[in-house]
Amino acid sequence: MILAPSVLSLDYTRFNEQVAILNKAVSALHFDVMDGHFVPNLSFGPDILKAFKKASNLFMDVHLMVDDPGFFTPVFAKAGADGITFHYEAVKDLKAISSLIQEIKQLGLKAGIALKPATDVAVLKPFLKDLDLVLLMSVEPGFGGQSFMPSTFAKLETLTKIKNEHSFLIEVDGGVNKENAAKLIAGGVDILVAGSYVFKGDILANIKSLEK
Ligand code: DX5
Ligand code: ZN
Repeated sequence: MILAPSVLSLDYTRFNEQVAILNKAVSALHFDVMDGHFVPNLSFGPDILKAFKKASNLFMDVHLMVDDPGFFTPVFAKAGADGITFHYEAVKDLKAISSLIQEIKQLGLKAGIALKPATDVAVLKPFLKDLDLVLLMSVEPGFGGQSFMPSTFAKLETLTKIKNEHSFLIEVDGGVNKENAAKLIAGGVDILVAGSYVFKGDILANIKSLEK
């Protein structure tokens, strides 16, 4: 299992100190981009990603919560993304989704699709053969610090069953803590995203408690 701390919850008054801890403890960081339209919140632009790339060599897992992922894909690729995951609900059109996946891959990045809690995993069927990653949202996208939705377990089970025929990884994002992490890992999750749980208190100890 790969743990990808969500830097939405990082303390930006202690950027260097906290990134130094993360650099030693994990292999990936999760970077949430919010446009104020797809979700009712604003987060980071590409210059913040560039700052992370100066301070860290970790894999930058960029989660686009934006209405127009086609516009922002080259922007964040140029800023240093290693993987780009966009929302199915933001695009929906089969051809447009397929071509965006191909574009991400042609940029040399890992390509992922994210699903909101209410979106059925069945919508992904046409794309599974091409995807590197499927991100299951376990909260409504937009804010850190929300409670994990247990309905995620059933979606994880469905996805795990069809995973064998393909090579995508499964990522779960939202409300992850030490109470649900073990069950998610046992359920077949490959990448766990955790924000508020990791950054509240002792970062290193929190990371270790999720990896158990
Ligand atoms: C929510 C974001 C998550 C968020 C997770 O819209 O996609 O990545 O930062 O934060 P926690 O772990 O606090 O739910
Ligand atoms: Zn996210």
